[in-house]
Amino acid sequence: MFKSLFSEGTETRADGEPSLEGQFFTSEPDQPSHAAKSPSCGGLTTIARLMKLGRCKKVLVVAGAGISTASGIPDFSRSTGTGLYANLEKFNVPYPEAIFNIDYFSNDPQPFFSLAKALYPGSHRPNYIHYFIRMLHHKGLLLRVYTQNIDGLEKVCGIPDDKVVEAHGSFATASCHLCYTPFPAEDAKVVPVCSFCSATVKPDVVFFGEDLPQKYFLHTKDFPKADLLIIMGTSLQVNNNPCASLVNTVRSSVPRLLLNRHAVGAFDQVPLRRGDHMELGDLEVTVRRFADLLGWNHEIQDLMRSHEAAVSLNSKLSIFVSSWTVMTLFLLMQSIGALVSCCSPPLTASRGRSSDGDTDSETDSKSSTSYNSNQ
Ligand code: OAD
Repeated sequence: MFKSLFSEGTETRADGEPSLEGQFFTSEPDQPSHAAKSPSCGGLTTIARLMKLGRCKKVLVVAGAGISTASGIPDFSRSTGTGLYANLEKFNVPYPEAIFNIDYFSNDPQPFFSLAKALYPGSHRPNYIHYFIRMLHHKGLLLRVYTQNIDGLEKVCGIPDDKVVEAHGSFATASCHLCYTPFPAEDAKVVPVCSFCSATVKPDVVFFGEDLPQKYFLHTKDFPKADLLIIMGTSLQVNNNPCASLVNTVRSSVPRLLLNRHAVGAFDQVPLRRGDHMELGDLEVTVRRFADLLGWNHEIQDLMRSHEAAVSLNSKLSIFVSSWTVMTLFLLMQSIGALVSCCSPPLTASRGRSSDGDTDSETDSKSSTSYNSNQ
């Protein structure tokens, strides 16, 4: 139903810099193609060998929605019917990308906020693939990860801020979509209104029609420096999507490895560029095999276990601390209440002696009695 709308034109900002403009999806389905059957599949071994030889020390990763499906977050799968864009009917948007279109949001922010509930950080955990990227950092090999995902899982798994470019923003901060006044991220959850201009505050997720974050422009330094590019879980399908075009800006001698379910972008062409490799199939399975070839599997599993255990301990501790605080406050209030009722007998007594001579309640009458009995 929405498919024809994916084929509209491409746009570039007036200053020549990329922006996420309009509906720039091609109508090409993200499906297995001739290249998927090409003998170039199996690039994992080649790249693992290069890495083990120490030839790849400045690794760039370009990641998309496919790295988070194992965490339970749907990708955008335009063709399979299971992705985010195929399941937006209930939000009553005229076309799927409208939900992330800044002009549409200006008029009706509700569909985005309804969808966002399922995407807010905290409900999903990083998976093996995120930890593999963290291991690249741990080994001192990660130049930077450019992610198109807004789930923040790269940072949640412990990759430091300066190694992550969230090209499409994130939920970590928020601002007024009109005057850009910053607000705490928690304030941007239920169609909040800017206290300065009364426009809607939104999480700093980059919408179609908005500029990319400043940090994205680190690519001008990073890509010419890289000695290996790993592309993971992205359709590279969005025309003029800055991230999709970034993959063409590494030096021509630099090996590129695509890990995805299907061949996409330049990897869907025959012949492949010299130095291009791909490994097709389920990403988590592929990445585990990659880690095995590199001899990193146990280390990644240990890292994952210890990090996840620390997080769960932290959350248990904070639940304990908050219930302890609530209990202490409760006991404190009870003690204060008891103290007040002990120290204010005249009030209790006068309530007990109401004008018509009746007591207000059984408690009052008992207090009155006890007050009297203490006299
Ligand atoms: P897509 O959903 O377009 O592509 C995800 C790719 O990952 C597809 O090629 C899937 O086949 C593949 N994939 C999914 N799960 C996989 C798995 N378990 N194993 C292997 N491959 C898997 O997502 P992106 O390329 O990230 O922009 O989309 C780019 C941008 O388009 C998004 O950031 C979003 C969207 O419109 C905005 O919202 C601004």
